[in-house]
Amino acid sequence: MRVAVLISGRGSNMAALLRAAAQPGYPATIALVLSNRADAAGLAVAQEAGVPTAVVESRGFKGDRAGFEAAMEAEFARHAVQLVALAGFMRVLTEGFVDRWRDRLINVHPSLLPLFKGLDTHARALAAGVKLHGCSVHLVRTGVDEGPILAQAAVPVLPGDDEASLAARVLEQEHRIYPAALAWLAAGLVQVQGDVVTVAAPAAAGALVNPLPGFAPVSTS
Ligand code: GAR
Repeated sequence: MRVAVLISGRGSNMAALLRAAAQPGYPATIALVLSNRADAAGLAVAQEAGVPTAVVESRGFKGDRAGFEAAMEAEFARHAVQLVALAGFMRVLTEGFVDRWRDRLINVHPSLLPLFKGLDTHARALAAGVKLHGCSVHLVRTGVDEGPILAQAAVPVLPGDDEASLAARVLEQEHRIYPAALAWLAAGLVQVQGDVVTVAAPAAAGALVNPLPGFAPVSTS
């Protein structure tokens, strides 16, 4: 399966996908890394890895989201892209685009969806006082950060955490579940029924909850 990874910035999730795809037997090839910003740091990482890159500047398409997406899809066609993975891609996509790529378009989001859709998820998790936070990989639907969930990883919120420490703990898990979820989709192991995804991979169920080393269950006796 030929995959386009869409970025807007740092691209650490994209780099995790590149590392996974370099492993023998991984069922997807990263055929293209596309950014909507020419200054995205991730572009250099992709170029160093020898992966084709493209820039379609969203700034050049003010008020013309369909035109912006058509320009991206022209790049997809040039690289025979079959799946699209959003990795810190900070543009909202039109219903038309989402429908054309239905079940072939995935996203990673830094929260346990459906909690904390949108921006500033770590600050909002801290402010809400949740004790578990995490990340999700999901199929993209028209609502922002909405769609059937493929994989989630939970991390504890620890006393003394700030936005940066919590973000780093979550990001480590993003780098683990995103390559796994993309592999399941690329290998045809994903079944979607309404909002519910079933993955026919033996490792899929056990891979989801991630207590930190040294964490013990709370005794109630
Ligand atoms: C990641 O934490 C990703 O989950 C988040 O942006 C960051 C990008 O980092 N995406 C969203 O918030 C999308 N709603 P990266 O560029 O290093 O992968």
